[in-house]
Amino acid sequence: MKLSVIILAAGQGTRMRSTLPKVLHRIAGKPMLQHVIDTCKSLKADDIFVVYGHGGEQVKSTITDKSIRWVKQAEQLGTGHAVKQVSPEIDDESQVLILYGDVPLIHHDTLHELISIFPENGISLLTNQLADPTGYGRIVRDDKQTVMGIVEQKDANEQQLLIQEVNTGIMAANGKELKRWLANLSSDNAQQEYYLTDVIGFAASEGRAIVTATPNEPAEVEGVNNRRQLASLERAYQIFRAQELMDGGVTLLDPYRFDLRGKLTAETDVIIDVNTIIEGNVIIKSGAYIGPNCHLIDCTIGENCVVKNNTIVEGAMVGADCTLGPFARIRPGTSMSDNSHIGNFVEVKKSTIGSGSKANHLAYIGDAQIGKSVNVGAGTITCNYDGANKHLTVIEDNAFIGSDTQLVAPVTIGKGATVAAGSTITKNVNAEALCLTRVKQKEIAGWQRPTKKSKAE
Ligand code: UD1
Ligand code: CA
Repeated sequence: MKLSVIILAAGQGTRMRSTLPKVLHRIAGKPMLQHVIDTCKSLKADDIFVVYGHGGEQVKSTITDKSIRWVKQAEQLGTGHAVKQVSPEIDDESQVLILYGDVPLIHHDTLHELISIFPENGISLLTNQLADPTGYGRIVRDDKQTVMGIVEQKDANEQQLLIQEVNTGIMAANGKELKRWLANLSSDNAQQEYYLTDVIGFAASEGRAIVTATPNEPAEVEGVNNRRQLASLERAYQIFRAQELMDGGVTLLDPYRFDLRGKLTAETDVIIDVNTIIEGNVIIKSGAYIGPNCHLIDCTIGENCVVKNNTIVEGAMVGADCTLGPFARIRPGTSMSDNSHIGNFVEVKKSTIGSGSKANHLAYIGDAQIGKSVNVGAGTITCNYDGANKHLTVIEDNAFIGSDTQLVAPVTIGKGATVAAGSTITKNVNAEALCLTRVKQKEIAGWQRPTKKSKAE
């Protein structure tokens, strides 16, 4: 049967105390609403409707996913009213799953189960047992444990308030039946809202089957109303990801100090030390070690690399057996061949570093092509920018660049050439040559340093 998902995202979220609509607040760097949408896609939903209201334009311009059909709820008159806005779009012969833009961690497996237990023309409902059910709608069952309805906190009597089984709000229903039930909702209740939960009562009174499932993890059905809850779900998300990685053979020195904001593909025996942030699409090959406080963004780290602490790698390809850092910054467009070394306080941008080449200390390498077995001395700078355009520096195999050299691009240093320390290179250097641009050293014997004047004078 066709699967249509309705994601409710019209609520205001006042308690976030934010100018940003609630569903755009991020978990692991991604808007909460996008998390829910991605989960819908993993379920291969045929339609994804998002009911928007407050901050709608901002939501639509941020979530540009083409697969979404936007439905406006101009006034927030309750969850039932919100779902009803989609009624005209719903096929009779579809299964309708209702989700929430502020319940971001709902998992594919839980929803898959909810859909698979779905009774024809009935409802499947995700419920949860809570030690403290305060605030939630309570699941009312008869003495045969058949679900009879849901009663909201504000409408519940003393007996009903004792019920610990609560409504998560997530449910699936048949399209045709759901539309009929929605049409019959009234707002005659404590909050004068159109409650989606009344649909359960209608189904029960018609003798329809109502089956329930529970989430595997409590965090899956937790919603975000304030920034504390946002932080708490961020941690829950991170610990799930950390556990997956550890199960896959990655050592995390402390899973509570690991952050994944994107996708990490890690081969076996990768070791990740504390406080590392992984962003975008990152691949770490087997045996690599990532030291403390590193930030890896959209990059590949090759086999057996050692990335020492506080190193940033973004948009780069790093080959096998390389050493990076501590405190190195590898910027987009960089490619490091096997066994190359970029050491402390070295910045590399849009450059290729040949195998076995080293820049171990305090250098800037930008727009450069560095061959094999090149040594770049401390303090070397490629002067790649003339204020208007960027120029290329080429350093061929086996060249030796002495410390504190400026390479004024465009310039080529030939194979095996040696540039003496402290040189400013403005012209190409031939292969195997020694090039130096130093001023001759002068000496003045018996030099008298100036002395301080005494205060009395
Ligand atoms: C709802 C359920 C309650 C359940 C709880 C779980 C109803 C009547 N009650 O209560 O049984 O235990 O969720 O958290 O459904 N929304 C709209 N438009 C509206 C109203 C709400 O889009 O007009 C969206 C909100 O943005 C939010 C979600 O629906 O994402 C839930 O709304 P909320 O007001 O928080 O419902 P609760 O009162 O918490
Ligand atoms: Ca709520």
